[in-house]
Formats: sequence, C-alpha cells, structure tokens
Amino acid sequence: MQKTTNLNKAVFPVAGLGTRFLPATKAQPKEMLPVVDKPLIQYAVEEAHAAGIRHMIFVTGRNKRAIEDHFDTAYELENELEVAQKFELLALVRSMQADDMDFSYVRQPRSLGLGHAVLCAEHLVGNEAFAVLLADDLMVGPTGGQAVLAQMADQFRELQQSLLAVQEVPLEQTRRYGIVAGDSVTDAPGNRLIKVRTMVEKPAPELAPSRMGVAGRYILTPAVFKHIRRQSSGVGGEIQLTDGIASLMAEESVYAFQYQGKRYDCGSKAGFLEATVELALQHPEVGEHFRQYLNNLKLD
Ligand code: G1P
Repeated sequence: MQKTTNLNKAVFPVAGLGTRFLPATKAQPKEMLPVVDKPLIQYAVEEAHAAGIRHMIFVTGRNKRAIEDHFDTAYELENELEVAQKFELLALVRSMQADDMDFSYVRQPRSLGLGHAVLCAEHLVGNEAFAVLLADDLMVGPTGGQAVLAQMADQFRELQQSLLAVQEVPLEQTRRYGIVAGDSVTDAPGNRLIKVRTMVEKPAPELAPSRMGVAGRYILTPAVFKHIRRQSSGVGGEIQLTDGIASLMAEESVYAFQYQGKRYDCGSKAGFLEATVELALQHPEVGEHFRQYLNNLKLD
C-alpha cells in the first residue's frame, strides 16, 4: 500500500558539469552514468518515489537533455520492443514514466552553487516542505529495510521541521562535507536524531565542530528559500545550501538524522567503483556470475 505523506516534491540539482568523470561526461550528464544497468539519477528518483513523493523537479543545465529524455516516452524504442514481443524490456523502459509521477524541469543558467540551484526550483516548490536529493550520493537502505529518504520522511512526519541525512566521516575528510554539531534527541527511537546547533560547509579538520557529515539527502521547510536568498557566496565562491540552512536555524529548528544504510560517493571514481561492485553482486541477473568471477580473480 502506498504511504500518504505531506511531502510531495523532490528537487534534484543536476546542473553540475561532472568534471571528475571526464572524458565520460564530455557529452553526457554525469547523472546518466550507469551503476550496473541503471543511471544514477534513476536510483535517486526511485528513492524519492519510495518515500511517497510524486512530483520530481530537476534543476538542469546545458548538455542535460538526456535526463529529460530518460523520463519521457521513447516512442520508437517502445514500438520496436512491442513488435518484437520483448515485453519484459518494454516494461523496464516504461517503468520510469510511472503514471503517478509528474516531472518538471528548470534551468540553472550559471554554476553558482547548490544553494542557488535549490533556489531555482522555488517557484515550482511553492510554500510546502520538499526533499533535495543529490544523485551523486547513491543511498542504499538496509537489507529488507526502508530506503533512506523513506526513513527521513517518517521522521519528518513526526517533526515537521527540516531534516538532514548525516553519517560519521573520517576527520581528514571534513573538507568534503557540510558538517553539523548538536544535541542528541534522547527520546527518539534508536537515538538517531540530533538537534543541530552549528552547521558549516567543508571545514578544515581542525575547525570542524564534529565528524557528522551531511549526505546528499535533505527534507527542508519552504522558509529555507528566503535564507538562501540572503547568502552571499561562501566556500568555493558558491552560494551554499549549508549556509542557507545554518541561517534558517535562527528561525526554526533543524535536525540531523543518522540514517540506516550505506552511502556510495558516486561523485568520486573510487566511490563509483565501490557502488558498481557491490550492486553488481546483488544484481539478480549477473550477481552470481560476478561473485564467482571475483572469487577467482587473482589480486596481487
Ligand atoms: C554537497 C554539499 C555538502 C554535502 C555533500 C554531500 O557538496 O555542499 O554540504 O555534505 O554535497 O555529498 P558537494 O559534494 O556537492 O561538493
């Protein structure tokens, strides 16, 4: 049965250039790189769908048309598969245009940062809470358990306040993340909730207020928009979402949530390879073969 939720919209900032994956990303969006057989962006859209979200909003840029095509009908392909009676493949191709989803696209004309990208979606989000999913972070829920955004949506239903996915990161890696520090909410089930006191984008290890790093999943109240708008450029000369959320804390409580599951940093080659190996091992079609292959592989 489908969950009812007051969280209906998800924003996917996908305008980034993906320079870390050149030359693969010269003529195709990095979000279309496949892990095994599915593009990164589809994993994120499926995660939002599993959390009950039905309106998907993409903040795109030049060279990102493949994303729009991916979530549209592919008439010629569908027709050929139908004629060839390849119904399983046909179902696979059609699975991403689910009748119960709406897709909207808005352009981010210049790379002014994640905060700016989210702001570009303001008129489509309106005055309601929304999720933000960074497709670079491929999140896999615990075996047999809920996907990460669905865990967060459950928390959000209780809290009705902004919520960020966090995980402990190695001290030497704090420069890669938004870092939060706060107070554990002790009566929360499993004690996974932190009320955020401080939040800072990509601090040096010696300046980091903790080792709690933000993963690419957020549920935000619409009040965040005016706080992002007030930000001048922050780390890297960009308008940072982290700075907007830190400013929001003067008006509303913000929580961090230690999700259950695993994050693969598919914005890096190493993380992308790790995701590929682990998801291939679980894949119903190639998993068993791949396991045997790896077992026989001589690594020295
Ligand atoms: C962004 C955010 C950062 C967050 C990270 C998660 O950084 O700015 O706060 O911790 O995503 O992946 P990026 O990786 O886009 O530089």
